[in-house]
Amino acid sequence: MTDRLVITRPDDWHLHLRDTEALAAVVPFTARQFRRAVVMPNLRPPVTTAVQALAYRQRILDALPAESDFDPLMTLYLTDKMTPQVISEAAKSRHIVAVKLYPAGATTNSDSGVTDIDNALPTLERMAELGMPLLVHGEVTDNTDVFEREQCFIDQILEPLSRRLPELKIVLEHITTADAVAFVNSGRPGLAATVTPQHLLMNRNALFTGGMRPHHYCLPVLKHESHREAVLKAATSGSERFFLGTDSAPHARSAKENPCGCAGIFSAHAGIELYAEAFEQVGKLKHLQKFASEAGPDFYGLPRNTDTITLIREPWQVPGNYPYLVNDPIVPLRAGETINWRMENTLND
Ligand code: NCD
Ligand code: ZN
Repeated sequence: MTDRLVITRPDDWHLHLRDTEALAAVVPFTARQFRRAVVMPNLRPPVTTAVQALAYRQRILDALPAESDFDPLMTLYLTDKMTPQVISEAAKSRHIVAVKLYPAGATTNSDSGVTDIDNALPTLERMAELGMPLLVHGEVTDNTDVFEREQCFIDQILEPLSRRLPELKIVLEHITTADAVAFVNSGRPGLAATVTPQHLLMNRNALFTGGMRPHHYCLPVLKHESHREAVLKAATSGSERFFLGTDSAPHARSAKENPCGCAGIFSAHAGIELYAEAFEQVGKLKHLQKFASEAGPDFYGLPRNTDTITLIREPWQVPGNYPYLVNDPIVPLRAGETINWRMENTLND
């Protein structure tokens, strides 16, 4: 059994950092483990221009510990009104790497999202020309059953879009179903998916174990065990089409433990360790580096990191909460429970 694993430093290709004091509270967790992260633009108001994205990036840099070399990769929030010109402007900056599609109403802060994909076609065409990837929250927003929204989105919107714009690079974010795995595996070049730790480690029973579990609620919602197994198999297969994206999405405890609790799971405190557990479950630790450190930069056309991290098999207990807002902490994934792997802290160990 491996007790010590050295891998190329990983990157997180899907992350929510929020802003102001929330940003300052969470960004050190990610910067400790990951060299780069693709930062989602669903602020209020959303990040829709290059100027806004670069200003947000500067706020992230200002919130980092002094010695950090963390490199935030920024995204723009696609709206019905975004023009191709905005894409051309954004493409001039190496700090802006992608555009995020939220179907309007699909998830947290998505009310400015796209109401009809046809409205965005000229903009998507410009992205295809310039090699700018489209990151997709793949759920329909009508009355479809909440457990079937990903499959419907693939059939109704993503498949036709992928055929219509064969040059457009597309990442289906936080996949949760066997259908998404099949779509990504059988699709044309330029298609990939990110996978979160929660969708590898938990099925929908985790929403109801011993009672309602608001801290296990995220979107897309956890699915049936058969889907978890399919997603786990794909992520650990060594394929270049599946890579790490935590979707760590902090919400204060009062917003989660609430009669209308927010969607989002905070996992940045233990991102890489949670993935190590999932890969170990199926005897695939040998493919963790591909998933966490190689497939992502290769897809985005960025260099792989050159330094390494060390993971040790050493159980540790996750705190019940971490400071977040004033008198309103954040409850992390596995709060009060044990994680089997620990990343060696290069500064202190
Ligand atoms: C995310 C958030 O809170 O910003 N929530 C979530 O459940 N994943 C938004 C998103 O990625 O859907
Ligand atoms: Zn997200």
